[in-house]
Amino acid sequence: MADQLDLVVIGAGPGGYECAIKAAQLGLKVAVVEKNDRLGGTCLNIGCIPSKAMLHASELFDEAGHSFEGMGIEVGKPKLNLKQMLAFKDEAIDGNTKGIEFLFKKNKIEWVKGEGEIEAAGKVRAGDRRLEAKHIVIATGSDVARLPGIEIDEKTVVSSTGALELDKVPGKLLVIGGGVIGLELGSVWARLGAEVTVVEYLDAILPGMDGEVVKNFTRILKKQGFAFKLGSKVTKVEKQKSGLKVSVEPAKGGEAQVLDADVVLVAVGRTAYTQGLGLDKLGVKTDKRGRVEIDAGYKTSVDGIYAIGDCVAGPMLAHKAMEEGVALAEKLAGHYGAVNYAVIPGVVYTAPEVASVGQTEEQLKEAGIDYNAGKFPFTANGRAKANKTTDGFVKILADKKTDRVLGVHIIGVNAGELIAEAAIAMEFSASSEDIARICFAHPTLSEAVKEAALAVTGLPIHM
Ligand code: NAI
Repeated sequence: MADQLDLVVIGAGPGGYECAIKAAQLGLKVAVVEKNDRLGGTCLNIGCIPSKAMLHASELFDEAGHSFEGMGIEVGKPKLNLKQMLAFKDEAIDGNTKGIEFLFKKNKIEWVKGEGEIEAAGKVRAGDRRLEAKHIVIATGSDVARLPGIEIDEKTVVSSTGALELDKVPGKLLVIGGGVIGLELGSVWARLGAEVTVVEYLDAILPGMDGEVVKNFTRILKKQGFAFKLGSKVTKVEKQKSGLKVSVEPAKGGEAQVLDADVVLVAVGRTAYTQGLGLDKLGVKTDKRGRVEIDAGYKTSVDGIYAIGDCVAGPMLAHKAMEEGVALAEKLAGHYGAVNYAVIPGVVYTAPEVASVGQTEEQLKEAGIDYNAGKFPFTANGRAKANKTTDGFVKILADKKTDRVLGVHIIGVNAGELIAEAAIAMEFSASSEDIARICFAHPTLSEAVKEAALAVTGLPIHM
C-alpha cells in the first residue's frame, strides 16, 4: 500500500525543505525524499554554509596576522591548524543539517531516505517505498558544471566540494572561473597562504554585476594578492609528479601559456540536476540547459508536478529557491504566494563583501531608463574609518523622473547585511529621498546607505 500524502517534495535543499515546512505549517501532509545522508542539500553540506565557516575562520586568521598588531593586540604570528579549521567547518554543517531534521520532526514531515523517481503524476518511488500525493515538487538542485577534458578528482583538480576539504594549503591554486565560487574559495586559500591565480573566460570577473563595482573590486582583490588572467581559458590540465601543468590560452584563440599549480579549482558554474527522476518518460519538458520548464505558478508541463530552485531558470541562489519553495507551498495550500524577482539580493562573501539588489547601471542603460546615481565611499564613513575598513562604497540608482530606487550596489565590510535594508526599501517602492530622510544610528556602516541616497539628487553631508 502506498502512503497517501498531500505533497511529496524531492530534494531537501533550501528550496525543498522550506517548501515542505511551509506546506506542513499550512496543514498539508508532507514527505520529503532525500538520498543524501544529511538534509540541507548543496547549501548546507557542500556550499553556502561550509564555505562561510571557512571564510569566517580564514578572515580572522588573516586579521590576526595583519591587523591585530595595529590595534594593540600582540598575539605573535598566528599558526594555522588546518585540521581544526576543517573541523570547525564540519561542526557548522552538522549543526545546520541537524537543525533541519529537528524542524522536520517538529512539523511532522517524514524524511523518506532514498532516490526519488516520479513514476507518474501523483506517484513517487524511493527504493521500496511508494508514495502517492496530490502534488509533487521537484527541488533537486544543481551539480558542478564540468569542462571537457578536465577531470575533477576532488584531490588536485577540485570542484567547490573538494576545495572545502583540502588537507594542505596549496602553494599555488589556479581557479578556473572568476565567478562567486572562484572568488570566495580563492579568498579562503589566499588568506591561508596560497598564491591564487584566477583564469576567467570573459574580460571581467563576476559577470552580470555592476561594472563600476567589478572594476573597484578587481583592484581590491589584486591588492590582496590575487592574479587574474582575464579573457582566457584553460585548455588542458596535466598531472605530473611535481604538480599540475595548466595550459591557458586567450579566449579568442592564440598561443598557450603553461602555468604551474598544486591545485586547480574548477568553478565555471553549475547545471540543473534532474537525473533519475524519469522526466523524459513522464513528458516533463526541460530547456536546452536541462532546466525544468515551469509556468508562473511553478507547474511543469505535467499537471500535479512542480519545480523550484536551481533546477529551474533564474539565479542559482539558495534564497531564491527558498522564496520559490514558500510561494509554491502557499499556492498548493490554497493561499496567495509570489516571489518578486526584481528584488533578489546577491552577495559575494569575500572581504570586503560585494552585494547588490535590483538593476545595474549597464542594465538600466540597455533598457533606456534614465536614472540618477548617488555614491558614497566608506573612506568618508566614521565607523569604517574607526575600524580601518574603508575599502568600497555604496551606490544607489534611482529613476530620474520618479526617484524610485532601481538598484543598490555595495562593496564593503558587511555589505551582505547592509543590502537587506536596500531590499526592504525597494520592496516598499522607496524613493532615494525616502531613504535619505530615515534616521540611521551613528556610528554605523549603514549610514553610508543614507549618504548615498542623499547623493542621488543632492549632496551627502560627509563629503
Ligand atoms: P558563476 O556563474 O558565478 O561563475 C562562473 C564563471 O566562470 C563566470 O565568470 C564564467 O564567465 C566563467 N567561465 C565559464 N567557463 C569558463 C572557462 N571555460 N574558462 C574560464 N572561465 C569560465 O559560477 P560559480 O562561481 O561556479 O558558482 C555557481 C553558482 O553558485 C552560481 O550561480 C552562483 O551564483 C552560486 N553561488 C552563489 C554564492 C553566493 O551567493 N555567495 C556562493 C557560491 C555559489
